[in-house]
Amino acid sequence: MRILVVGGGGREHALAWRLRRDRSVTDVVAAPGNPGIAQVARCMDVRADDHDGLIGLARRERVDLVVVGPEAPLVAGLADEMEASGVAVFGPSAAAARLEGSKAFAKDLMLRADVPAARSATFTRRDWEEGPSGVLSFLDELGGPAVVKADGLAAGKGVVVAETRDGAAEAVEAALGRGAFGEAGASVVIEERLEGPEVSAFALTDGRRVAPLGFAQDAKRIGDDDTGPNTGGMGAFSPVPSVDASTAERIRAEVLERTVAAMAAAGIPYRGVVYAGLMLTEDGPKVLEFNCRFGDPETQALMPLLATDPAERLLACAQGALVDDAIELDALACVTVVVASGGYPGDHRTGFEIAGLGEAASVEGATVFHSGTAERRGRVVTAGGRVVSVSAVGGSLAEARDRAYEAASHVGFEGRYHRTDIAALAAKEEGT
Ligand code: AMP
Ligand code: GLY
Repeated sequence: MRILVVGGGGREHALAWRLRRDRSVTDVVAAPGNPGIAQVARCMDVRADDHDGLIGLARRERVDLVVVGPEAPLVAGLADEMEASGVAVFGPSAAAARLEGSKAFAKDLMLRADVPAARSATFTRRDWEEGPSGVLSFLDELGGPAVVKADGLAAGKGVVVAETRDGAAEAVEAALGRGAFGEAGASVVIEERLEGPEVSAFALTDGRRVAPLGFAQDAKRIGDDDTGPNTGGMGAFSPVPSVDASTAERIRAEVLERTVAAMAAAGIPYRGVVYAGLMLTEDGPKVLEFNCRFGDPETQALMPLLATDPAERLLACAQGALVDDAIELDALACVTVVVASGGYPGDHRTGFEIAGLGEAASVEGATVFHSGTAERRGRVVTAGGRVVSVSAVGGSLAEARDRAYEAASHVGFEGRYHRTDIAALAAKEEGT
């Protein structure tokens, strides 16, 4: 099988790396890729938002399957266009990608399908112009802290968790009255604030059948102990000890299966990966959001655990013909530590030479995935906020964690930063 991976970050490196080891895969092409991906795939200089360029490339390379990494091209209809030109795509149509692209759409679907989620209501600019009373009375109904979310894609910047009703009202005013979330916030979802540990569930689906891939947890804040501003993700690990077998089964049945069935019933079959962001509340798991693609950096912690070769499964999902929904994971753990540029997620400089990548990769169980790197005169340099994702597998989270941190310690560049507590609590919890 010949595969084209679309994207150029750590997630796509992990996908390309795992697909390259797949026994049914003969060739992996990536667009645009990055210097790390270039070690496992042929990188082509076509951007992820250049749909015509990608379709041309897929046809020229006679690929059997396109695997799309980021959400933006999916929401913009890349899968539809690719399929119309006769190329199979792992990733949902634009209509189905609304599960991520519109929180209001996702909320409505969950309500109809009885998928457990926070109580919520959606408000538009027009609602707001007619007066704040609708918003205020819904906030009174919630009667406490509330979360205000931009309806559309806001690159992780469209959520305000407000401690008080007034704080929430202010966030709504900012979004609907003053455009604080930009166009993504022309409508907002207001929901009750939930409490509990957050986990991410991943499953493959062909639109009918659901093949669970497992659970991961990512570290979103820049600082240890979840302090400081939000980032794209500073680390991840899998499995998640707080997800026991009965919780996992509940998430499969009540969240993943119901969501996929509801999409099919609505005439919008969802094919690709379902990524559910969940909170494990006292009343059971509840959905915070859906994503229509793999997580970054969760994928860097999931791919090294896959025992089942994924390519045939991904192709079957693309074709609506998933027969075998068993996915075997190695009975191991994986921990991913992101090494970032100093200053990230704020201003940061790039272009620094990265040392120690070989030493890092030679640590037992470790793999270095490139998140934001570039090649300059034969050297690998920093080219983004998140620079590399260092993953390591082990017989336990504790072992994987030790190896990942040992490997990460070899990666050197000016101003480098990483969190020191990725999977620390989980490693203590496991086996207890
Ligand atoms: P989202 O983009 O919907 O995943 O929201 C981003 C982050 O905001 C989540 O990872 C949570 O930490 C937080 N969040 C979102 N919804 C809620 C909620 N209903 N209650 C508490 N925290 C939330
Ligand atoms: N790690 C969060 C995300 O991929 O959205």
